[in-house]
Amino acid sequence: MSSHDESTPPVDAADGSGPTPPSVTPAPGRPGARPPQFDEPTTPTDAPLTSPDQAAAEPRTPTGAVPSADDATTAQQGERLTTSQGARLRDTDHSLRAGARGPVLLQDHHLREKITHFDHERIPERVVHARGAAAHGVFESFGTAASVTCADFLAPGRRTEVFTRFSTVVGSRGSMDTARDTRGFATKFYTDEGTFDLVGNNIPVFFIQDAIKFPDVIHAAKPHPDREIPQAQSAHDTFWDFVSLHTEAQHHTIWFMADRGIPRSFRMMEGFGIHTFRLTNADGETSLVKFHWKPLLGVHSLTWEEAQMIGGTDPDFHRRDLADAIEAGAYPQWELGLQVLPDDPEQMFDGIDLLDPTKIIPEELVPVQRVGRLTLDHNPRNYFAETEQVAFHPGNLVPGIDVTDDPLLQGRLFSYLDTQITRLGGPNFAQLPINRAHAPVNDMLRDGYGQQADHAGVAPYRPNSLDGGCPFTAGADEHAFEDLPVRVAESVRERRNPESFSDHFTQPRMFWASMTDVEKAHIVSAYAFELGRCYETTIRERQLACLAQIDPELCRGVAEALGLPAPKSPDLPDVTPSPALSQVGGTWPVAGRTVGIVVDPEAPDADLAALHEAVVAVSMTPLVIAPVGGTVGGVPVGRTFATGRSVELDAVLLAGAPAPGADAVPALDVKAGAPGAPGTDPRLTLLLEECWRHAKPIGAWGAGRDAATTAGLTEGMPGVHLGEDAFSVLEAVAEQLAQHRVWERFEAPSFSAGGADR
Ligand code: HEM
Repeated sequence: MSSHDESTPPVDAADGSGPTPPSVTPAPGRPGARPPQFDEPTTPTDAPLTSPDQAAAEPRTPTGAVPSADDATTAQQGERLTTSQGARLRDTDHSLRAGARGPVLLQDHHLREKITHFDHERIPERVVHARGAAAHGVFESFGTAASVTCADFLAPGRRTEVFTRFSTVVGSRGSMDTARDTRGFATKFYTDEGTFDLVGNNIPVFFIQDAIKFPDVIHAAKPHPDREIPQAQSAHDTFWDFVSLHTEAQHHTIWFMADRGIPRSFRMMEGFGIHTFRLTNADGETSLVKFHWKPLLGVHSLTWEEAQMIGGTDPDFHRRDLADAIEAGAYPQWELGLQVLPDDPEQMFDGIDLLDPTKIIPEELVPVQRVGRLTLDHNPRNYFAETEQVAFHPGNLVPGIDVTDDPLLQGRLFSYLDTQITRLGGPNFAQLPINRAHAPVNDMLRDGYGQQADHAGVAPYRPNSLDGGCPFTAGADEHAFEDLPVRVAESVRERRNPESFSDHFTQPRMFWASMTDVEKAHIVSAYAFELGRCYETTIRERQLACLAQIDPELCRGVAEALGLPAPKSPDLPDVTPSPALSQVGGTWPVAGRTVGIVVDPEAPDADLAALHEAVVAVSMTPLVIAPVGGTVGGVPVGRTFATGRSVELDAVLLAGAPAPGADAVPALDVKAGAPGAPGTDPRLTLLLEECWRHAKPIGAWGAGRDAATTAGLTEGMPGVHLGEDAFSVLEAVAEQLAQHRVWERFEAPSFSAGGADR
C-alpha cells in the first residue's frame, strides 16, 4: 500500500475547508493544492489554488517590463534595438554572409526572426465591416434607465470605459471611407458586471429578416466573384439583382440610397441597435426596447459628388476626421436613448412586429428617452492592437439586458464568436488587451493558441472537490446574468416567416414620405446612379417595379433618368410621415467643422492670427490655404492651391485676393485648367465653384470681397456673406453652418404632398 492519504479518514477541519492535514509529511503527487472533502463543497472559500511547490511565470509585459498601472510598460522598452528575446543587436541592415559577396548563412537567427515575423504580420480582415476606425471613451449614465433595467452601468452616476468602432460594411480594409454604404457603430462597454457590446449600425433596419440570408446579401454586395470588381460599392448587378428579388431588403436599401448612406462624419451619424432587446429591472419586470445613439452634432451627410471626389483625394476622410477631432479636443458625443415598449406576449406594437428587423417604430409614436452620454476622448495608440483586434459580439450581455427571438439576432449570436476564432487565430482572443473584461474573469476555459492566462488549480470542471468546488455559480442575490424564463409560443418546427414579416413596402414608403424635397431629389439621383451602373436592363426594370410599390414619383424620377418606362404603381397605402427621419430643418453645434481660410501671402490680413484663434475657440478647425506653403501673418499654411481641395472644407472664408501661384500652369496641373477670371488662380476659382455647388457657406471681407466678386459671388446670394471685418463674417458663416448646408442653393423639384417639408 502506498503512503497516500487513502488510509487517512476524511476528518473535516473546524473551518470546513477540508480534512485536517496528516501529521506526517505527505508523499509528493497530491493532485490539488488542498485535500478534497468527501461531499461536494457547498461554500466558496478563498483558499489558494496554488500548491507551495508551484509558481507562475514571473509577471512581465509583452515587452519585458514589470507590469504596472502605467501603460507605458506595454510599449517597447529601452533605447536599443533587440531581438524578440531582448538580446541587443549591433546590426539590422545586413544579412550574415559568408564574405561580403558570399551566400547568406542559415544560422542568421536575426534575419530569420525578422523575416518570419514579417511574413505573418497580416491577419484575415473581417468578412464584413473590414474597414473601420475607433476611439476610446467614457459612458456616463443619467440614471434614467434604472426603472427599466438593473444593468449596473445604467444606474445613476455610473461612468464606464468604452471603445467604439465605426466601419463600412462592404469594402475591404483598404477601401475608401466615403463609399455609399451602411456604417457599423459598435460599442464595447467595459462594465463592472462584464462586457456589454452594442453592435449596431447607422441605419435602424437591416436588409434581411433571418440570419440565414446573411451570406446571400453579402455575396451579392461584395465584388463580383469573377473579376473582383467593383470594390466597396453597391452600384452593380449582383447587389440589385438580389435586393430587387428579395424585397424585404427594400427598406434598408432606400435608407442608404438616401443621404444616410454617405455621412459627413462618423461624429454626425445616429446609431441603432436595430433588434428589439428585452430589459429586466430590479423587480424582475421586463420591457422590450430599441437602442438609439443620438449625435450631439446632429445627423449630416456629404453630397454624392463630394463623396466621390473625397474617395480619390482623401480615402481616409472619416478616419482622419475622427482622429483629428479628438486630437483637437472636439470630442464627439452621443446620447444613448431607449424606445421602451411593453413586453407584450405577441411582441407587436401598433401593428409593427418587434421581431422583424426590417421595421422601425417611429419616434413620434414612441419617443426616444435619453439614458446616458458617450464621449470619445482618446484615439487608439496602435491601430492593429486595438481597432483591428477588437472583437465585438452581440452575445456579450450583462444582467438586465437580454436578447429576443428576432431570427436575425439569433443567428448573429452564433456568427461573431465563430468568425473571430479564425480572424484572431484561436479561441483566446478575449484575452487580447482591447478585448479584456474589466470585471473579474473565472471561466474554466483553458489552453488553446495564444493562451496568456497562467491558470492555477487542477479542476477546471464542475462539480469538483479538488479545487474546493471553485468556481461556484452565483447565488440568486449576486446579480448574475440570467436567461429570462420567457414563454416560447407553442408551435411546430418549420422553416417559415410569420405572416407579419411579409409587408416589405409600407415602411420604405413612410421613409420616402418623411423626406424633404431636396432629400427626395438626392434619393432619386442615388437610385439613378446605382441602377445606371448595372449592366442588365432586366435588373433595372425589376428594381423599378419595386420602386413603383414605394412611390410613383420616386419610380418615375428614376425611370426617366434611366430612360426606361415607369411601371404603374398599385394602390398604395396612406402613410404618416415621421419628421424625425429627415436630416434637414434644424440647427446644431459646429464643433469640429473645417473652415478654409484663403489668404494672400503678399498682403496678409491684419486679423489673421486672431481669426485663426477665434475659429479654434469655437472648436472648429481652421485650414489656411495659400498659393504656396510656409507661414502667412504668423499662421502656418495648411494647404496650397495644389494640395487642397474644396471637399475638405465645411465653409470657406476669403481673407485676401491672392495672385495666381507660379505653378498654375494649365498644361501641368489639371485643376489649374479650370476657367476663371484673369488675375485669379484657376484652382481658387474651382474651389469656390465647388463650395458653391456643394452648398457651403462662403464669407469674405476686405480684399477677399474682390476675390468673391471676381468669382461671381455677390451679396444677397444664398449663403454668401460679404462683410466689413473677419469676425462678423465668421459669425455669420458659423451661424449658417449650424444648418449644415445652404439648403436654398439646391434647386430640388417639388414633390407632391406627404413630405416633411418644413
Ligand atoms: C442588425 C443586423 C446587423 C448589424 C447591425 C451588424 C453590425 C455589425 C458591425 C457593427 C460589425 C463590425 C464590428 C466591428 O467593428 O468589429 C459587424 C461585423 C460582423 N458581422 Fe454583423 N451585423 C448585423 C448582422 C449580421 C448577421 C446576420 C451576421 C451573420 C449571420 C453578421 C456577421 C458579422 C460578422 C461575421 C462580422 C465580422 C466580425 C469580426 O470579424 O469581428 N452580422 N456586424
